Amino acid sequence: MSIEMQSLLQVEAVSRRFGGLVAVKDLDLEVRPGEIFGLIGPNGAGKSTTFNVISGFLAPTSGKVTFAGKALPGGKAGAASQAGLVRTFQHGSYVRNMSVRDNIRLGTLARIAPGNRIAKVREAADLLGLTEMLDEIAGNLPHGLQRLVSIAISIAAAPKLLCLDEPLTGLNETEVTTVLRVLNGYRESDGRAILLVEHNMKAVMKICDRIHVLHHGEFLASGNPAEIQNNPKVIEAYLGQANAS
Ligand SMILES: Nc1ncnc2c1ncn2[C@@H]1O[C@H](COP(=O)(O)OP(=O)(O)OP(=O)(O)O)[C@@H](O)[C@H]1O
Ligand SMILES: [Mg+2]
Repeated sequence: MSIEMQSLLQVEAVSRRFGGLVAVKDLDLEVRPGEIFGLIGPNGAGKSTTFNVISGFLAPTSGKVTFAGKALPGGKAGAASQAGLVRTFQHGSYVRNMSVRDNIRLGTLARIAPGNRIAKVREAADLLGLTEMLDEIAGNLPHGLQRLVSIAISIAAAPKLLCLDEPLTGLNETEVTTVLRVLNGYRESDGRAILLVEHNMKAVMKICDRIHVLHHGEFLASGNPAEIQNNPKVIEAYLGQANAS
């Protein structure tokens, strides 16, 4: 098997500076088809910046991102999403004054043929329990349901790699269970994978196959959930803190 087939996403020596601040430093990581890969670390560790670089919303200062065997042009979000790398934003990724249906439809525009879009919207809404709310204005829904709309939009895009930035924030336990079930189901077909940034450690440890820990923009540790939970460096830098419990 070639390297391209073994890894869906390859991040090599990626750094990103903001003036004098090095938000991400020399990051290497690889996401394989079919896996749920967790990217965790304290506030300000560089997780969202990593997402911004991977998805082309920010150009890296240096380094290379390869997706599905092709180098992604830095700083071109359209190229990443066309290629099947779709991300959500930490603070929500939907249009407040549009209906849930029209929001989810937005997700289908890049990669779903026009004739298949209605079915795709229905499927994504159904997966996330939003079918009854398709005609509601997204901004009028309770916070948890708005977060589910963001996830439905990204799933309707049929990504090969779904990158979720803190999708579980503000969700109740039932909603968390729904999202984890949807994510597990999603990665089970066609070698699709998920890159998950999340502070809900219970969920991360339950669902991730492999985890990579960032601290001050730098690699701190990587491993499976058991290895990460028992790593003294990770406990000291992150897991011992209240926000990771
Ligand atoms: N556009 C920007 N301009 C300047 N500094 C930025 C910018 N984006 C991020 N930073 C800084 O880069 C560092 C990493 O931020 P980032 O948002 O990537 O962290 P994070 O790991 O996602 O944190 P959190 O868990 O709080 O979401 C922080 O010090 C942040 O203030
Ligand atoms: Mg963040």
